[in-house]
Amino acid sequence: MAFTIAIDGPAAAGKGTISRAVAAHYGFAHLDTGLLYRAVGARMLDGMDPVEAAETLRAEDLDETTLRTPDVAQAASKVAAIGAVRAALVDFQRAFARRAGGAVLDGRDIGTVICPEAEAKLFVTASAEVRAERRFRELTGNGVDTDFAAVLADVKERDARDMGRADAPLRPAEDAVEIDTSDMAIDAAVAAAIAAVDAALEESQT
Ligand code: DC
Repeated sequence: MAFTIAIDGPAAAGKGTISRAVAAHYGFAHLDTGLLYRAVGARMLDGMDPVEAAETLRAEDLDETTLRTPDVAQAASKVAAIGAVRAALVDFQRAFARRAGGAVLDGRDIGTVICPEAEAKLFVTASAEVRAERRFRELTGNGVDTDFAAVLADVKERDARDMGRADAPLRPAEDAVEIDTSDMAIDAAVAAAIAAVDAALEESQT
């Protein structure tokens, strides 16, 4: 059975944690599509043309440990505004989404552009301040030297670019269930996501 769960939302809203937990709960495969854009961004920082980088992306370029830096995040957000970069990544994401056994994809345009036919769609969000606070704790926890104001500015800059671009801007699909995690513990957010997916699963079986 193919069953696609699309999870979109801005940076640091809790999408990654929720997506991993949802995928584990249902035994579905998970694709963090942000990693694709991060890998293209990292190759651009290394001097490669971003369109060529997207067209020649390999599995070994998706090494999470080197791609979770603020510089790579900003580069990812910049290359993600290039239509030819997005186009080069569509087929891989759609094939992953329809694989047998079910799939969870998280990103910015999964429910709107990559899989508008996804059986379950979630939009995970939180205030910019809460998201910056989480990202700040994560970065300092990893030994990165930064301050809260810089992280907040970074979050806001990336939001503006991701929401303002012409091609596949970040926005909720009309039929997405919105989960605002600003005042939610992670367990409650995961439970809300699973409840929404359970409802979609039930609907798909009737
Ligand atoms: O989710 P993330 O922070 O790893 O994403 C990095 C950047 O990639 C984000 O700022 C916008 C872009 N992106 C996108 O445009 N579309 C997606 N489906 C996923 C990420």
